[in-house]
This record gives sequence, C-alpha cells and structure tokens, in this order.
Amino acid sequence: MDNSKIKRYTVTAALPYTNGPVHIGHLAGVYLPADTYVRFLRANNRDVKFICGSDENGVPITLKAKREGVSPQEVVDKYHKIIGDSFRDFGVSFDIYHRTSSQMHHQTASDFFETLYNKGVFTEEVTEQYYDEKAQTFLADRYITGTCPKCGSESAYGDQCENCGSTLNATDLINPKSTLSGEPPVRKETKNWFLPLEKYEDQLRTYIESHKEWKPNVYGQCQSWLNAGLQPRAMTRDLDWGVKVPLKDAAGKVLYVWFDAPIGYISATRELFEYARLDVWNPKSEEYYINQKEVQKGNWEDYWKDDSTKLVHFIGKDNIVFHCIIFPAMLMAHGGYTLADNVPANEFLNLEGQKISTSKNWAVWLNEYLVEFKDKQDVLRYVLTATAPETKDNDFTWKDFQARNNNELVAVFGNFVNRVVVLTHKYFGGKVPMLMNVTPEDQLVIDELAAAPAKISASIEQYRFREALMEVMNVARIGNKYLAETEPWKVIKTDEDRVRTILNISLQIVASLEILIEPFLPFTADKLMKMLSYGGHQWEDAGKMNLLVRGHQLNEPVLLFEKIEDSEVQAQIDKLNKSKDDNIKANTVAAPAKENIDFEQFSAMDIRVATIIAAEKVEKTKKLLKLTLDTGIDQRTVVSGIAEYFKPEDIIGKQVSVLVNLAPREIKGVVSQGMILMSENADGELSFVSPMENHNNGSVIR
Ligand code: 2FM
Ligand code: ZN
Repeated sequence: MDNSKIKRYTVTAALPYTNGPVHIGHLAGVYLPADTYVRFLRANNRDVKFICGSDENGVPITLKAKREGVSPQEVVDKYHKIIGDSFRDFGVSFDIYHRTSSQMHHQTASDFFETLYNKGVFTEEVTEQYYDEKAQTFLADRYITGTCPKCGSESAYGDQCENCGSTLNATDLINPKSTLSGEPPVRKETKNWFLPLEKYEDQLRTYIESHKEWKPNVYGQCQSWLNAGLQPRAMTRDLDWGVKVPLKDAAGKVLYVWFDAPIGYISATRELFEYARLDVWNPKSEEYYINQKEVQKGNWEDYWKDDSTKLVHFIGKDNIVFHCIIFPAMLMAHGGYTLADNVPANEFLNLEGQKISTSKNWAVWLNEYLVEFKDKQDVLRYVLTATAPETKDNDFTWKDFQARNNNELVAVFGNFVNRVVVLTHKYFGGKVPMLMNVTPEDQLVIDELAAAPAKISASIEQYRFREALMEVMNVARIGNKYLAETEPWKVIKTDEDRVRTILNISLQIVASLEILIEPFLPFTADKLMKMLSYGGHQWEDAGKMNLLVRGHQLNEPVLLFEKIEDSEVQAQIDKLNKSKDDNIKANTVAAPAKENIDFEQFSAMDIRVATIIAAEKVEKTKKLLKLTLDTGIDQRTVVSGIAEYFKPEDIIGKQVSVLVNLAPREIKGVVSQGMILMSENADGELSFVSPMENHNNGSVIR
C-alpha cells in the first residue's frame, strides 16, 4: 500500500488458543515481530491499534476441560490470565487483549453470521456425522478414536493418524469409538451451513495476485490453495461450546472456531472503542488488559472499513489459509470491510533441535522464564528476534542464548553505553560536554550514524526484523570502534577538548540507540532513557547530533546487561532433559492388559523367525518399508511402518519375528503377507523383536 495513502493501521496478532500457556515459539513467530512493528509505527507518530485476545472456542479446549474434569470456562479463565500476564510482562504492547468468550465477541460474531445468512451466502448441507447415543451428542473428529485404515495403528483420531501422519475422516476409522463414552458411535444426519469458498475464487485470486510483495512462503501457499481449487467449508459445528448459531433450527450448534476467531479481531476493536466511549470504569474490563486508558478518537469502523487503513495480520505459518483465503472470503461475502495489506507469517521455531511440543513439555514457557531470568525480558526478546524464523524454521538453543547475551548485548551494546556514560561522569561530572572541533574521522562516524535510521526503517517496513535489529547493533559497533580508535582515556591526559568532542559524539550515538532499540528492547530503552535523563524523542530524531544538549546532566550509569554463566544455561538444558525423561516415564505407565484370550487363540498365531533379505522404501510414503523376508517357509513381502527409524541398508540380514499367518493386505499398492513384531516405547521409538542368538529361519516362536 502506498505510504502516502495510509491514514491509520490496524495490526493484529493471532489470537492464541487458551488451552495452555504461551512459549518462546509463539513469541518469536508472532508477538515480537508484531510488537516491534507497532512500537516502530508509534515512534513515527502513526495512528495504530494493536489488537489481540484469547481464542477461547474450539474442540481442544473442551477436550482439555473433560480431561481435567472442569468446565471449558474454567480452562479459558485460567489460561486467559496466564497468557495475558505473560504478554504484559514481556512488554507486548497491545491496545487491547480481548477474549472470544466475551459478550461483545459473541454478539459481533453472531451478527456477522446473520448478515451472511440473510444475504443468502451459505449453502445448507445435510451430512452424516458420528453421534454418541450414550452421551447424546454429535462427536467432533477429535472425539473419535479407532484403527487407522492406512497403517493399522489402533489409536488414530477421527481427523488424523498420529502414527502414519495421514489426514483422515472420522468415517474412515475402523472400529471407531467415542472418547466420551467408549461406545461405538452411530451415524446420524445433521445439517450445517457451508461457505461456498469456490464462489470467491476469482475475487481471491485477484486479491492475492495484487500482493506479489508478500513473503514467498505466504504467497506460495495461497497460490497452491487456489490452484488446487477451493471447496465449500462448514462454518457451523455440532458442539456445545462456542458462539451459538443464531438460527431457529440450529439447536446444539456453534460457529466453527475458524469462523469466529478472526472476527475476534473485529470484536476486540469494538470493545476498545465502546469501552472508551462509555468512559465508565467497568471492573470486569480490568481483565481485558486495555493498555491505553485514553479516550479513543474516532470509531472502530475507521479501523476496519476504510480504504486508508492498512491492515496487517501477524501469524504463524499454520494459520496462512485462514487469514489469506477463508477470512478474506468471509469479509468479501459480508461487504464493506478492507482486506489485509500484508500477512507476514513466520515459519516455526524449534528448541534444541526438536519441534516444540506442548504435550511433551518440550518448550520454554514464558511464565517460567520470567521467574528464572527475572528482569531479563529483553535478553529473550533480543535472541528471539535475532534468530527469528522469518524465512525458514530456526532453532533456539540455550548455548546460543548465552552467547548472544554475552558477546552481543553485554560486549557490544552494554559495553559501549557503559563506557560512554562512565567516562562522562569521570571527566565531566556527568554533564554532556561541548562539541568542539570535528575531525574528518569524527565526520565519518556522524555520517554513518545519520544513515542508520533510514536503513532500519526500510527493513522494519518490509517485516525484516532480524535485519533491522542487526543494523541497530551495528550502530553500537560503530560507537565501540570509534571509542577504540580515539582512545579518550589516553587523550584526556593531553587534550581535554578533544575528549569533549569524542564524548559528545558518543553520547549522541547512545541517545540515538535509545530511540532505535525501543521497538525491539523496550525495557532497555526505558533504562537508557532514565540513565540519560531524557525522554520524548521520536524516531525521526534518531541519527541527529543534537539529542543531548551541552551541559545536560546525566544520571548515574547502570548496567544494561549482565553476563549469563554456564551454570545458568546448563540448568535450563538439564530442565529440558528432565522433562523429556519425566515424559518418557509418565508414558511408560504400561497400557492396561487386553482382555484374556484362550490358548487356542494364542496358538492360532503362527510366529516365526525370519531374515530380512531385501528392503526398500515404499514410494510416496514417509513411514513404510517394503521388506523381503526369508521365513524358512518361503520368501515373501511384508510392508512395515518403520522407515522413520531404520534405513533399508541397515537392516538387511537382520533376524526378526514375523506373524506369518496374518491375512494378506494391500498397503499403498503393495500386498503385505504378514506382520513384523516390533516393540514400541513411549516415545514411539521402535525396536525389532529378535531371538537372542541366531536361529534357523522358520523357527517357531511360542
Ligand atoms: O493457531 C492458533 O493458535 C489460533 N488460535 C489462531 C487464531 S488467529 C485468529 F484468527 F484469531
Ligand atoms: Zn495410520
């Protein structure tokens, strides 16, 4: 969008699900870039509203509530507070942190649905869904488990098999069971309302193609959705938690969580304005984390329905289709709304080489970090921005965290600021000295400083926050180099005036750094401002030489950053490893024994020793190997889901146990004659069950 046309900004950050606290992956991928962008806009005097809130609907929350034996409302109340506190404590400066269980949200989402309904946008479809007769409820896909038709795993969910990764329909499962009652569900017809996405395909294509400047991962994903052809998608669900479908014949139905969640941005904006307009202190609003208590000027609609508003959605890559295809289609269907100008989605952050996992507790939780690294919010903000997964998945390691703190924040930024302020106190009583004769080498530094803000702005405006942060650090590096070259601590003995000039220039660099670092490290900027005893500068002042006037009295120096010791990061690594061990232990609680069988049933199984004589991957699958076995009886093919754990070349010649009288089955076009016995630990790692010593192929196992 042409900068000169922009009157105001609406910046949204994905509404986090309220079924657990937030971790470093969330912060790095979504909330830090969004906050940095917004702080930068504010420093440039732009009119911006920064919108977020808790996503409190959807099936995972109801599942968590069931597991914990509490109500969904109790689950969301708990995490809304924990998540909101973490954001506040890390300085994520939302104008409002709202929630989708609020009355305002229910009303807004319900009205939005009604508008589309009245315009005849939806199609009604009756489909067969699983129903639990005992619990008297339709079952969301996640509430059904059964045997995977693809790999035979017995613990597949109705939407996905976690063993082989296949996407499933609940009706594909063999022997489905309801997780609510344990009973097999029945099929029952139900009516739902569908958004015919295919009708908006042309409009969406025009929209997406007018944004070739989007990040390649975002643009590419949109193109592949459009090229694959869009399908109608149900916008209502049979569930009893969420925003009720506002129609007469829709008892027991709620809006699909991905219908109501993005409307959450709109309801939060409305709440922000209505609250201000009422100008009454509503004790309940306290929990909305409304940061700006000033009366809002204008109207919520200015921020959503005006072409001169630039709308930007900060999200993670798993949210792209919802923000770039489905939500825009909803807005097009409704009419009157502006569409996002950009959706700078990030990739994922891993932790110590592994995917962050809430269920395995493989994460750095923000609330815990704040206890263990008190007042070090900016260290994490720094490291997560410097290693942000902007173009590819990235890895967070505690060693890198320590190295960046010690070698960059302490040794470069902190060291420069500290030396300048300490020397000013030492030589001039903490008063800003006068700029005397500027030498050509001084001028070079002054010019470099003057050029920096524009470069940093350009990077931020293109959502390249890592690059921008590196440019800010470069300013500190310029300062350090300048001090090293001019050596004021030596010159002071012979030429006090020269030192006045050196420290004046250095102090102007420090003052600029305060402005430039603020969007990234607001706590540090705040300390710096206090140290310099000044405030109120704008972005446009950065790089100038008159930020601190001669004679201005500085406060005492304080250390901005301190070294992080080996023992501190080792403690974190140990903690992670412990949670891995605990997790394995917790999961090793052996599954209960199956029902008894009689001896005949056991002896009906013909299990033999066999040797793998050939192995290859089954084409177009990740997990399957096609094995040729010498069973002593014959040579035969068995397909086995072990490819993630064993390379074909490593297992040739291995003796294994094989159930030879299992009825043949076709798997991915290959007929499998039998099943290899494997032991599987709590981490899903596999090991062959083999005789301790070599036995002839065909030896009977009993
Ligand atoms: O992926 C998530 O965590 C979702 N709760 C994001 C929702 S974003 C928006 F649409 F509200
Ligand atoms: Zn499977």
